[in-house]
Amino acid sequence: MQPLAEKKIVLGVTGGIAAYKVVQLARNLTLQGALVDVVMTAEATKFVTPLTFQALTHRPVYTDMWQMSNDADISHVTLGDRADLVVIAPATANTIAKLAAGFSDDMLTTTVLATTAPVLLAPAMNVNMWANPATQANLATLRQRSMLVVEPESGRMAEPMVGVGRLAAIERIEAEISALLGRVGGPLSGWNIVVTAGGTHEPIDPVRFIGNHSSGAMGYALATVARDLGATVTLITGPASAPLPLAVQVVRVETAQEMHAAVHAAVPSADMLIMAAAVADYRPQTVAAEKIKKTASGGEQRSLELTHTIDILGSLRDTTSVIKVGFAAETRAIAEYAQDKLRRKGLDLIVANDARTALGASDNAVTVYAPDGTAWEIARQPKAQVAAQIFDILLQRWPTPRRWTQSDTTDSHE
Ligand code: CTP
Repeated sequence: MQPLAEKKIVLGVTGGIAAYKVVQLARNLTLQGALVDVVMTAEATKFVTPLTFQALTHRPVYTDMWQMSNDADISHVTLGDRADLVVIAPATANTIAKLAAGFSDDMLTTTVLATTAPVLLAPAMNVNMWANPATQANLATLRQRSMLVVEPESGRMAEPMVGVGRLAAIERIEAEISALLGRVGGPLSGWNIVVTAGGTHEPIDPVRFIGNHSSGAMGYALATVARDLGATVTLITGPASAPLPLAVQVVRVETAQEMHAAVHAAVPSADMLIMAAAVADYRPQTVAAEKIKKTASGGEQRSLELTHTIDILGSLRDTTSVIKVGFAAETRAIAEYAQDKLRRKGLDLIVANDARTALGASDNAVTVYAPDGTAWEIARQPKAQVAAQIFDILLQRWPTPRRWTQSDTTDSHE
């Protein structure tokens, strides 16, 4: 799977020490199938040689406006013109200032001026240069012109200083690139998708809770695929161990009650809700204010009074403005229980899986059911690929968001 296959990315490298980290970015983008044309400023070549980028991208590297490559067609105009995306990393304060003022005095600034492709900037500079009002004003101008800025991070810099200015992590820049390319041409561009993931923790006392084995991996994979297909994603996550996806809006919750509130806040502006979270069905009736002591009354046996949590999907049964996808994790009679939940909760689709092999695992096998009885089997494979196939089914059924059409192609319960 090459997520960036054939994408034409111009990677502008300017003169900062973080240029060495961008070598890895050029390599990763190339490995994902992108055609990466590196354009370096004269200052950048003092930190990393053009040959380094050329060896990794297998393409010529541009450093000079007047340099003629074998391909006589390639100029700043053609480079900018054919690009799907221009990324500048690291973007120095100087290049940011030149872009804001509309300068075109080298190959990179001229390429940016000549392109109509989206432009993403990953600034990196000294902490005071970053905080300087001149830099901030220039960035505000560029943001206003729809350039996307991947904010630098706080941390230890090359100089003996700590503060904001360090180039964003390469994986974050990559995630923003995938999201931006999706938003421009992806099939889910314009969709707002809410994904819930992880488990919930229902407190017993200040140090204990009732939880489950959910790692969050399936929901996180769905959020990542939706992002790369162009959707604006809100990920509502309970406690989970899998690494959080980047370039999505994350809302963290602990309990079923908090997840219920977060889902209800997000649903009015959503086109689709995917409930992949393993929500607790019961919570302790009362939460002890102090840690419950072993020596407290009750002797050898102790029981916990439980009460139902709110059924989040059930509470949205009559909401038809959003496409609702549920999950069913069962240990037996999977198909029957899943189809029963589909009907009871008024869902548009349900993804059924075996709880014994799905929870906490890196791969999964699922069956997707629709209210009209259609079923799709997705064979066991990594959760990222299962997520991609679930979206193939969703896009087949709903090529455009329900918000736009107010109808769908199914003969569902509604
Ligand atoms: N779900 C929910 N709110 C809850 C419990 C579950 O919205 N309080 C959602 C889950 O996120 C999932 C679907 O409902 O998408 C089915 O969850 P599951 O736990 O399998 O179903 P339950 O209704 O809890 O039924 P049971 O536990 O008896 O199998």
